[in-house]
Parts: sequence; C-alpha cells; structure tokens
Amino acid sequence: MPQELHWKKFFKPKQILETLGIEGGRIADIGSGYGTFSIPAAARTRNTVFAIEMEPEMVQQLKGKAKRKKLTNIKTIQRDVSRQGTGLKDKSVKHVLLFNILHCEKPVNLLKEAKRILSPNGSVAVIHWNYDPDTPRGPPMHIRPKPEQIIEWAEKAGLTLHETHDLPPHHYGLVFKHK
Ligand SMILES: C[S@@+](CC[C@H](N)C(=O)[O-])C[C@H]1O[C@@H](n2cnc3c(N)ncnc32)[C@H](O)[C@@H]1O
Repeated sequence: MPQELHWKKFFKPKQILETLGIEGGRIADIGSGYGTFSIPAAARTRNTVFAIEMEPEMVQQLKGKAKRKKLTNIKTIQRDVSRQGTGLKDKSVKHVLLFNILHCEKPVNLLKEAKRILSPNGSVAVIHWNYDPDTPRGPPMHIRPKPEQIIEWAEKAGLTLHETHDLPPHHYGLVFKHK
C-alpha cells in the first residue's frame, strides 16, 4: 500500500459508496486498509461497520482514527479472512465491501465468506483497478483481475452479478447478490 495521503487521491469514496448503493444495515469492509471506505461508510448507516484487516498496524491506526472522529459504529477486527473467515454470523450483514483486494491468493474464499455473511437481500460490492497498465498504481498486471474474471469467481462462490459501474478515473465496480 502507498502512503495514505497518496492512496486517498485515487478515489472519491463517498461517491463510490453512493453509486454502489452502500447504505443502511451492517456493513463489512474486508481488507479495510486505512479505512478509506470504512470511515465514510460509517456515516451511511446507523448500524455497525466491521472493518476487518489482517495487518495489526493498520487495524490500530484505523481504531485510533475512528476514536478521534468519534465514529462509535466502526468495529475493527484483526483477522486473515482468507484463512480464518470474518468470524461474523451467517446472513448477518447487509453490505460486504471487497475493495482493491481480489488480486489476493484465494479470491474465491473471500467471495464465499462474503456470501456466507450476506443477508438474503444484501449486496457484495467489489471495486478494483481498471485492467490497464497505465493506471498510476494498482497490482501488477499478471495478478490484476479483469472484471470478467471476478464475475466468474463470484459465480463459483454462489453470487450473481447485479450491476456494473465505471468509477473514474481508475476503477470499476461490480455489485453481486445471492443467486
Ligand atoms: C490494497 S489494500 C485496499 C484497502 C481498502 N480496501 C481500500 O480500498 O482502500 C488491501 C488491504 O487488504 C488487506 N488484506 C489482504 N488480504 C487480506 C485478508 N486475507 N484478510 C484481511 N485483510 C486482507 C491488506 O492488508 C490491505 O490492507
């Protein structure tokens, strides 16, 4: 991950959450990083935002930030979701965010876990860097997934595509629901 100030320049987080319909209910942000999306998500629900992240330092940073901003509905969880799952109950969240993370080793595991915790009418929102070598950041092209690839993985996990979005300047978004 680049430095936080640099990272933030690549997105309009509020706009992205709005476009993808992230509003209300419990929200799980898997691989929450700096909290670029967990923090604005907390303002879009009265329920809990679970910010789940494997790197202990990032978890501590986000915990501190949420406290300073008095965001009492962010719950940080340190966990490697690919190996340990989220620890959340079946069908217990309305929205799951998988943002800039599906270039990881076992993407289908993450998508299956997202489906497990998703409520019947909930959505799994994915964003990723455009499949374009000219983006200013993003994973190396050999591990960077194309949208079609993510749709195929999601199908394997039992999810079905509901919406696709361009998220300029550098991202695309996909919204999935239960099959
Ligand atoms: C590229 S960053 C994206 C952060 C955030 N989602 C965003 O878009 O601003 C990916 C984050 O996911 C975390 N991560 C990767 N694999 C994970 C896993 N299996 N479980 C939990 N966190 C993970 C990394 O530590 C990193 O902070």
